[in-house]
Amino acid sequence: MPTQYFEKETSEAAQRFNIYAGIHKAVRAFLCDTLVRVATLDIEDRQAMFHTIRQLRELLAFCSDHIAHEDRFVHPAMERRQPGSSGDTAGDHLHHAQTLASLRAAADVLEHGAPDEKPAAWSRLHRELAVFVGESLLHMDLEESANNQVLQGCYSDGELVALHQEILGALTPQEMVVATRWMMIGSSPAERAQVMAGMRADAPPPAFEAMLGIARDSLSPGDWNKLAAALAPVAIAA
Ligand SMILES: [Fe+2]
Repeated sequence: MPTQYFEKETSEAAQRFNIYAGIHKAVRAFLCDTLVRVATLDIEDRQAMFHTIRQLRELLAFCSDHIAHEDRFVHPAMERRQPGSSGDTAGDHLHHAQTLASLRAAADVLEHGAPDEKPAAWSRLHRELAVFVGESLLHMDLEESANNQVLQGCYSDGELVALHQEILGALTPQEMVVATRWMMIGSSPAERAQVMAGMRADAPPPAFEAMLGIARDSLSPGDWNKLAAALAPVAIAA
């Protein structure tokens, strides 16, 4: 499925507005980082357990919110212009909601269960999370291939940008913080600069400053310097 799409992808399609591109880079980075943290966890170390489970719970909440936004905004837009076109990925979302609930339960047992339950809970959590990561990577590619063919075929770029703005307007401040952090971590320097320049243009200055602080805290000094330079001539303290 993905390979066939890559063969068909044209330079024209690559020039179109991809409503999924930025947020999916955030989701991929968050999924993969958390999977490695769970895999390498020392379950005897209470501090490590606390931080890893906290990140895992943030990931599960982020994925749940992401699914809700696609169900609320993207799938109805597809259905309005091409009825039946969102069925495959909507079905995936129902399955993912069940998996997220199961992962929360596994995290509860690992964090609060009896000591002799923890090794099995950790193993279950790691394997189930790995399967979820794999399914999510394939699911996001289906969205960026099949769903984007529908969206880009039925809507102009201007309409897709407006739909994207509608989604951004529905995010809570906490969702914006988490999305910005992982979009910074999971994107290229040029993409980071584009995201932050967009925020500078659209958001009130205090909100932009807050997001800039998240970027600074999320990036290595080298990557932060690249972002600061790209956003010049606005003065940004290193
Ligand atoms: Fe999705």
